[in-house]
Amino acid sequence: MRLAHSIVSIVPGKRDRKQFIRETMFSLDQIVPWGRSFDEYSAIFSLADAEMAGRILGCGDGPASFNAEATRRGAKAVSCDPIYSFSKADIEARITTTYAQVIDQIRQNQNEFIWKAISSVEELGRVRMAAMQTFLADYPAGLAEGRYLNAKLPSLPFSDGEFDLALCSHLLFLYSQQLDAGFHHASLLELCRVAKEVRVFPLLTFGGTISPHLEGSVEMLREAGHHVSIERVNYEFQRGACEMLRIQRDDSNIKGP
Ligand SMILES: C[S@@+](CC[C@H](N)C(=O)[O-])C[C@H]1O[C@@H](n2cnc3c(N)ncnc32)[C@H](O)[C@@H]1O
Repeated sequence: MRLAHSIVSIVPGKRDRKQFIRETMFSLDQIVPWGRSFDEYSAIFSLADAEMAGRILGCGDGPASFNAEATRRGAKAVSCDPIYSFSKADIEARITTTYAQVIDQIRQNQNEFIWKAISSVEELGRVRMAAMQTFLADYPAGLAEGRYLNAKLPSLPFSDGEFDLALCSHLLFLYSQQLDAGFHHASLLELCRVAKEVRVFPLLTFGGTISPHLEGSVEMLREAGHHVSIERVNYEFQRGACEMLRIQRDDSNIKGP
């Protein structure tokens, strides 16, 4: 697994990999914090201005600045991530200790990315660090206001239809090796429970191949009565990652238990 996108930087040897991830995923010294900006989220999810008027959930937002910047623009955004169980000082220290390693890994794997909107490794470092600093500056206020919630898939502490839109960036599908099909199905259904529409990006896993869980997830969601589409977006940084999954609830079609 490449560090550049990693949640977990230390990979097990002989131990069962899934068990290892379950046990250690949310110990901060195993996490490599890495967050995107509001502009990247806008492009990744084809966000229209009108959609920013609704209630938005960012699931797995980590140290992204989406919530901080969306709130500044007057949006009602809530982010949930298990990383929010840690203090600002702890997250900041972890960003400081892992930043150089992440940049080094990206430099070694430059051919896996498209250097257009972001033109160099140095610019990427500046853009990501600026986003994470914006997150850190907003974190204490956001925690107090309930905009940053310590919660994790596949079970979220929200009521049915509480959000108009749920966004999930660089978690589902990307971590297909670590998170199995059952986790993906349960998580997608949970996101559909709490939001009227769900968007997920990217649909590729590490190494640039389509997630092995994508086809089964789409089938499962359609069988559950949801409208599902895969749409091209105006964003491509990881080579080949330029599509999002859009799931719209059609409550009249949802099959009961
Ligand atoms: C690669 S980061 C992506 C951060 C942000 N979404 C972005 O695109 O910049 C993945 C995030 O998923 C979070 N995460 C891991 N497992 C999760 C789970 N079960 N539920 C919600 N978030 C989770 C991690 O803590 C981390 O912040």
